[in-house]
Amino acid sequence: MPKKLLVTGSSGLIGSEVCQYFARENGFEIHGVDNNQRAIFFGPQGDTRWNQQRLMADLPEGLFRHHEVDIRDRAGILELIRRTKPDAIVHTAAQPSHDRAAAIPFDDFDTNAVGTLNLLEAARQACPEAPFVHMSTNKVYGDAPNRIALAELETRWDYADAAYSEGIPETFTIDQSKHSLFGASKVAADVMVQEYGRYFGMPTCCLRGGCLTGPNHSGVELHGFLSYLVKCNLEGCEYRIFGYKGKQVRDNIHSEDVARFMAAFIELPRVAEVYNLGGGKANSCSILEAFKIAEKLTGKPQVHTYVDQNRQGDHICYYSDLRKMKSHYSQWNITISLEETIRQIVEAWRGRVGISCTDYNAPAAAKGMHVPNVHTRDLHERG
Ligand SMILES: NC(=O)c1ccc[n+]([C@@H]2O[C@H](COP(=O)([O-])OP(=O)(O)OC[C@H]3O[C@@H](n4cnc5c(N)ncnc54)[C@H](O)[C@@H]3O)[C@@H](O)[C@H]2O)c1
Repeated sequence: MPKKLLVTGSSGLIGSEVCQYFARENGFEIHGVDNNQRAIFFGPQGDTRWNQQRLMADLPEGLFRHHEVDIRDRAGILELIRRTKPDAIVHTAAQPSHDRAAAIPFDDFDTNAVGTLNLLEAARQACPEAPFVHMSTNKVYGDAPNRIALAELETRWDYADAAYSEGIPETFTIDQSKHSLFGASKVAADVMVQEYGRYFGMPTCCLRGGCLTGPNHSGVELHGFLSYLVKCNLEGCEYRIFGYKGKQVRDNIHSEDVARFMAAFIELPRVAEVYNLGGGKANSCSILEAFKIAEKLTGKPQVHTYVDQNRQGDHICYYSDLRKMKSHYSQWNITISLEETIRQIVEAWRGRVGISCTDYNAPAAAKGMHVPNVHTRDLHERG
């Protein structure tokens, strides 16, 4: 009998990669849970049905089963996990955008915090031995990383404080900073996942993601940095930079390297662990640097404007310190470079016909999303 893996958010970027990885590499029977909520959060451009259909077509017969369940449906989740009794759970379903959360606080908290509690309690009742991997976020640190002394370089910000030369460690404070409502709902989930580990002894871990990316993201302006940037580049649509001179730094990790770490944890689980999971310094880039790579790969100029106000709570410079992950799981490392990742995203968007960024680019504020007032100015004017 193959082992069973239950994956929430299975039609999303990380969830779909996990489904593929565990079916292909480990022969797991996969139970995917997704209700295409991303299309409700972000409109048609966030629709993930195409990815669900891809999994159903690509994965071997009998190894993938889709469950159309909302993780907020407590009775539905308790029943599903009681019935399937998975050997491991990977939880990636979420409202993933900090800007979007301010317009939909109840949906955001019910999905991110209460949905996670539903899953944890269902697991405790039905399969407490099963490793429980939770996709958390670096937004649990709020904007506290912005207090670190920074150096302004030609195309990016970097830490001027040598204590952070390897990036942000897991011991960094999560307290007394601005998180956005999204960051706060993810803190609630993160702490609850740790608590089910510490209090009940369950093998849980929180992966505090940096920029998770890859060819299967349905990138939109409010979520999916590189995916959306490449989509704009290919379509010739205007990419809006929000503040920090476009030098804000994110560390980017390919979804397959995320899945590989989850597999390592599930094979040798620990209790109540927390890891910062991103591309690290080597796979970090600023928005301006990402433009350059995309332009090199597509041969097209990146059309952009500058909004002279940063997104609330946005990090100026963030890259993960990967040393704890590597010390606990020495066989794991980043295997896919930033440029190769962007190349794969370019290839993927070229293959997905009929998807355009134009109809979802401008009216974010009109849809009640929390984005700064637009006062655009071409970046080149800034010298
Ligand atoms: N992508 C990133 O850059 C990033 C960074 C840090 C952390 N994370 C975290 O990683 C996780 C996965 O992110 P992603 O980029 O794959 O997101 P995604 O939006 O691509 O995938 C999430 C999936 O969950 C589904 N979903 C949402 N609400 C649901 C609900 N109530 N019931 C059932 N399904 C639901 C969506 O339809 C979607 O298919 C999230 O927890 C996110 O907060 C992502």
